[in-house]
Amino acid sequence: MSKKAILISGTPGTGKTCLSLELGKKLSLNVLNIGDFAIKNNLIIEKDNNRDTLITKTKKIVPKLKKIILNSDKKLIIESHYADIIPTDLVDIIIILRTHPYILEKRLKMKNYSQEKINENVAAEILGICTNYALNKYPKNIIFELDTSEVKINEAVEILNRIITLRPDKYKFGFVNWMKDLEKNKDLEKYFR
Ligand SMILES: Nc1ncnc2c1ncn2[C@@H]1O[C@H](COP(=O)(O)OP(=O)(O)OP(=O)(O)O)[C@@H](O)[C@H]1O
Ligand SMILES: [Mg+2]
Repeated sequence: MSKKAILISGTPGTGKTCLSLELGKKLSLNVLNIGDFAIKNNLIIEKDNNRDTLITKTKKIVPKLKKIILNSDKKLIIESHYADIIPTDLVDIIIILRTHPYILEKRLKMKNYSQEKINENVAAEILGICTNYALNKYPKNIIFELDTSEVKINEAVEILNRIITLRPDKYKFGFVNWMKDLEKNKDLEKYFR
């Protein structure tokens, strides 16, 4: 059983860390955050000051993660907005968390993001970039999306558990689309300036 990795992906602020930790507690599974792992293992190349992001040495990190996944006696929850670096043969399922742009903006404000960084991330969410990355790498039948905008944290954890065990059609990727709402309110441009 090599397909041990449960990947939780999504734009910053969609709830990956918060929900993965709760899910890990509920299912008694370990949770690994790729960014934290890279820092602990000195696998950061540089800090990109303009974008305020850490760039990880992907080539070095993937074999290390591979080993951890293969040596894990249980499934392992891996969360990151670039969770798609994990090789396909190790991935059981990938769930991309989605959040409505207005709510995501509020959550990122709470995290003290600059307006520029908020716009950059909200634009990425509108374009569904994390879902597209997953689609470029993994078979469609293991790609799911969960909209965390309106649900409470404990409800979201219940749904994640259901997605992992039952794989319901209603959570298969492709149902989330923020464009219509933003176009209707003429708000699309504001995030793409
Ligand atoms: N339904 C929900 N699901 C997830 N998070 C929620 C929800 N409702 C509110 N929140 C809040 O949204 C925030 C999500 O932040 P979190 O750090 O988990 O996001 P993240 O995806 O890990 O971001 P980053 O990529 O920056 O690490 C938390 O403060 C959480 O309490
Ligand atoms: Mg996080």
